[in-house]
Amino acid sequence: MEDFETYISKLREADSPLVREMEEFAAEQRIPIMDRSGIETFIGLLRIQRPKLILEIGSAIGYSAIRMVSALKVASVVTIERDNERYAKAVEYINRSGFGDRITIIEGDALLLPDESLPNLQYDALFIDAAKGQYKRFFEKYSEHVAEGGIIYCDNMFMHGAVMIPDEEVPKRNRTMIRNLKEFTSWVMKHPNYETSLLPVGDGILVAVKKRD
Ligand SMILES: C[S@@+](CC[C@H](N)C(=O)[O-])C[C@H]1O[C@@H](n2cnc3c(N)ncnc32)[C@H](O)[C@@H]1O
Repeated sequence: MEDFETYISKLREADSPLVREMEEFAAEQRIPIMDRSGIETFIGLLRIQRPKLILEIGSAIGYSAIRMVSALKVASVVTIERDNERYAKAVEYINRSGFGDRITIIEGDALLLPDESLPNLQYDALFIDAAKGQYKRFFEKYSEHVAEGGIIYCDNMFMHGAVMIPDEEVPKRNRTMIRNLKEFTSWVMKHPNYETSLLPVGDGILVAVKKRD
């Protein structure tokens, strides 16, 4: 029996050769990009929300940025990446995708970036997909740039199951990161200014809708 990802892939419009090339490159180079079930769900949510301006923390090679703008006819994405090799590869792929006019990529550490580096101050959606132990800091720094009624999405909320096992069974090198991620999750789920859901798809996608005053 085929798995549901294969079943869905066959039903979907064929991915562009560039998207396939990026998926293969990421797999070969062990670059973590959103998995197929995660990106499929995320794009479905964005199609419902219809954001015009999206801010992404963690571009890697530009895969999710390209997938977002190709799915949303009028959306633009600003995306931040701190790793210079990934940034260079993302620039190359964005140019090849033909979406250079709708994707702005910024090289730098999102936690250190001054606000003036952002081309816009208000976004309809914020996608946090960078260092997993720093999600609370990304959220605190960038949530003020999300418009009321806007949505904050976070990927890898399950960290491949590591958040569900007892602390002492998590490999020592990942313990602080997993603890931070779990603390962020319980903090954001109770945040009074957001209505938050944790979706059990892909590697766990958090959806926090910013309440209107
Ligand atoms: C999971 S990957 C992003 C995948 C991408 N969103 C996709 O699905 O195609 C996370 C990326 O975040 C970057 N990153 C981690 N911490 C960062 C920070 N503080 N500022 C900017 N980028 C960061 C890493 O270098 C890595 O390339």
